[in-house]
Amino acid sequence: MEIRKSVLPVSRPFSGSEEIQALTEVLDSGWWGKGPKVAEFEKSFAEMVGAKHAIAVTSASAGQDLVFKALSMTGVDIASPTISFMTTAVVPLWNDCTTNIVDVDPQALNIDPIDLRKSLKANTAAVIAVNNAGVLAPIDDIRNFFDGFILEDCAHSCYTPGAGSRGDAAVWSFQAVKTMPTGDGGMITTNDSSLYERILPLTWLGISSTYSRTQGNNSNSVGNRPGYTWDYQIDVLGYKAYMIDLTAALGLVQMKKLPLSLAWRRHIQERYNLELHPEVQRPAHTETVQYYGARVHSNLRDELITYLGEKLIHTSVHYKPLHLHPIVKQDRDYKIADQEWLRLISLPCHGAMTDDDISYVVYWVNKFFELKSK
Ligand SMILES: Cc1ncc(COP(=O)(O)O)c(C=O)c1O
Repeated sequence: MEIRKSVLPVSRPFSGSEEIQALTEVLDSGWWGKGPKVAEFEKSFAEMVGAKHAIAVTSASAGQDLVFKALSMTGVDIASPTISFMTTAVVPLWNDCTTNIVDVDPQALNIDPIDLRKSLKANTAAVIAVNNAGVLAPIDDIRNFFDGFILEDCAHSCYTPGAGSRGDAAVWSFQAVKTMPTGDGGMITTNDSSLYERILPLTWLGISSTYSRTQGNNSNSVGNRPGYTWDYQIDVLGYKAYMIDLTAALGLVQMKKLPLSLAWRRHIQERYNLELHPEVQRPAHTETVQYYGARVHSNLRDELITYLGEKLIHTSVHYKPLHLHPIVKQDRDYKIADQEWLRLISLPCHGAMTDDDISYVVYWVNKFFELKSK
């Protein structure tokens, strides 16, 4: 097969004229900041995932941070799995907490409840349960022995049925390569009304939204004057992490397209599952197919990445275990993660791929293993 002319990315966002129209409407409206589009996005998203409350923020990382700040979680220990993105290890450090990195189960590479139980410290106050690659983390098992706060990290599970409904709160990511991308962005969802009320003012320096003050909603304004209520009074230490209408407009369009985009990702996954060489271990089933995380023999993984790179196929590794990063190095062993991560390779899987692109990946992966078996 001839080598293609342009790179096939491992992930990328995908948009059409609907996104351009939605952005144009917001640009023309004169209201670009946090306003009616954010409110609409929060309402629709909460409905989709079956949550009582949703707060749109700038990223899942910012969302995790605000949840811990709203809970005044500081000086305690926070556990999370080692196969994850840096956010889950570092956000505890932002809050002067210790990061307790736990090993994973060999199938889904989700946090291992048995290892978690052994790793718990007297002051472990929260667990960040990541739904790795869209597969639901074993939160019900964790509840059997842990009665602290469980934050469900749904960055990869938008939308796996049941995601976001098992923790005390959940965070979602709309970063550029996620299943519902807006460039960057995130959502916090929870059924806990008191937690919701505490998080909300933290998203903007303790101020109620400017838009609501143009609409005569003066929740923390001073006095009761006609017109735009410019004045406000601050009594909590807040941050700046709210989503704006330009982003929410993209989110609303991407949310409408989500069923189709997930169906296409599942099609890619099904073709890979059916057609790839038997040396390629298929990923644990996922509803969302955030990425196609295959596994190959550890002696061949890096060679395969280079071989595919030469054919202009980009791949990735999700993830190098967090405990291997010096910033959060832990004084212990990780039997499963240390062995499995060396076998991980994510193959291209996104909405901009065609059936020909899938065939191209299958051809070169299979060619690699045929050459190896000679
Ligand atoms: C498991 C996990 N958690 C959190 C995040 C952070 O998301 P964001 O980029 O929206 O902050 C990511 C991003 O890749 C992730 O993979």
